[in-house]
Amino acid sequence: ALIGKGNFRHFMEKEIYEQPAVIGETLGSLIDTVRRTTMLPPLPVDLAKIDRVTIVACGTSYYAGSVAKYWIESLVQIPVEVDIASEYRYRQGPVSPGGLALFISQSGETIDTLAAMRYVKSKGSATLALVNVPTSAMAREADGAMRTLAGPEIGVASTKAFTTQLAALACLAVGLAVAKGTIDNARASQITGALMEAPARCAELLARLDGDESFKKIVETISEARDVLYLGRGTSFPIAMEGALKLKEISYIHAEGYAAGEMKHGPIALIDEQVPVIAVAPSDHWFEKTASNLHEVAARRGHVIAITDKAGAAHLSGIARHIIELPDIDPLVAPLLYTLPAQLIAYHVAVRKGTDVDQPRNLAKSVVVE
Ligand code: G6P
Repeated sequence: ALIGKGNFRHFMEKEIYEQPAVIGETLGSLIDTVRRTTMLPPLPVDLAKIDRVTIVACGTSYYAGSVAKYWIESLVQIPVEVDIASEYRYRQGPVSPGGLALFISQSGETIDTLAAMRYVKSKGSATLALVNVPTSAMAREADGAMRTLAGPEIGVASTKAFTTQLAALACLAVGLAVAKGTIDNARASQITGALMEAPARCAELLARLDGDESFKKIVETISEARDVLYLGRGTSFPIAMEGALKLKEISYIHAEGYAAGEMKHGPIALIDEQVPVIAVAPSDHWFEKTASNLHEVAARRGHVIAITDKAGAAHLSGIARHIIELPDIDPLVAPLLYTLPAQLIAYHVAVRKGTDVDQPRNLAKSVVVE
């Protein structure tokens, strides 16, 4: 069927606004909403016996995998390795027989990720694919497959595929933790309950930012910048990298995503009034540390833009020149919500600059040649 943009100017905009619905669909396929337990599809391994997870992906999918590392390591207490497919496939690294190798891809066709999967298979280990296109090469070749239900994603810069990957990965982390006995049923149902709240919080946020004057000012500031620094700690670190990637991809602004605690080892040398610093900072277990890094930025007259919640906003009001206040959400689920402002910043900056939002120069929707 032909897919249209409806009332939206670009596919990317439409796909951003579809997120509450498609996150809900994806969660609905992986959570028994009455019993609040996860329902994972048949997997190629016995989850109770897994002692290590290897996640391989490219681009935005790699950042989804990077968030999953924090979730799995903290909930399941087993080591998780996350790697870029084009590095992993040529490294001739060890493939652990007691491990689960997970390949994340919207298209299921990205050649480097597919080649990495074939490498793991050739070593006799089990492979699991998390894909959005169920008929794709990765879905066919993997020993097991999980699906995101984002629907067709047309915009080259990934949006809804990413947040649905996060939703699916959170469910996988919970399922794995229950199978390994590292969390009890009460904690599992608390997390699935928080996940089930995410679509409503996302919808609330999209409505809140739509036409918001202070958000427009932020977009103006960013569109005049040559360089932008995105900071975050913990699960917000990959979200900072994803925010920076979105700015590069469609707004053609040089942006870097950095671990907030690592800023003092380099990027702080770049800070002046000209470089906006966007902090992804929900009030979670990392917040105080991130806040103190933002103090360092403000002390150098850096222009801090904080993406935070009500409590965070109260704390950062003296430091941040702009604050995007998000609805309160369970910190574990925050990455799904905190991605949205980053997508919208890149989108509106690109529209202001007049770039080809859905077909950015030099980029392809899926990279199937080496
Ligand atoms: C390309 C796209 C990105 C995407 C990446 C990985 O670079 O432009 O949006 O994140 O490929 O694609 P995949 O289909 O494997 O998730």
